[in-house]
Amino acid sequence: MPILLFPDTQLRKVASPVANIDGRIDELVGNMLETMYDAPGIGLAATQINVHERVVVIDVSEECDSPLVLINPEITESHGELEAQEGCLSIPGVYETIKRPAEVHIKALGRDGNPFELSADGLLATCIQHEVDHLEGKLFVDYLSTLKRNRIRKTLLKQAREQDD
Ligand code: NI
Repeated sequence: MPILLFPDTQLRKVASPVANIDGRIDELVGNMLETMYDAPGIGLAATQINVHERVVVIDVSEECDSPLVLINPEITESHGELEAQEGCLSIPGVYETIKRPAEVHIKALGRDGNPFELSADGLLATCIQHEVDHLEGKLFVDYLSTLKRNRIRKTLLKQAREQDD
């Protein structure tokens, strides 16, 4: 599936909760996993492929064999502070250090529709927060100064124009 690129306004849409975990959602999850591994990336929110439903896929394992599927994820607790470098498939080539809570506790539904809870720290905690932000129409560049974000916007728009030519 094609991935939307910043500053596409579709990335700003707030995603709706998934009401029924049916075959359609299973297919969406399958497409998202394929798109993420192909990219390659460690996380993808449905928003990034222009589907505005609350579905996230993540795989932070080195072997890329431990997919985590979060449907209707909710961060119920967060603690501490961690500065980590982030990138995003929707903002290619841009890596910036972002400060976020170091640990999160979440609840979500799995691909099978069963509810589960998870505590995460380190890279996984950062990744979960980054992806849940996507569902709210929020991007990691929003944590940067307006000046920096505008510079990134210009660079990406220029790249898009050059690719069109
Ligand atoms: Ni992202």
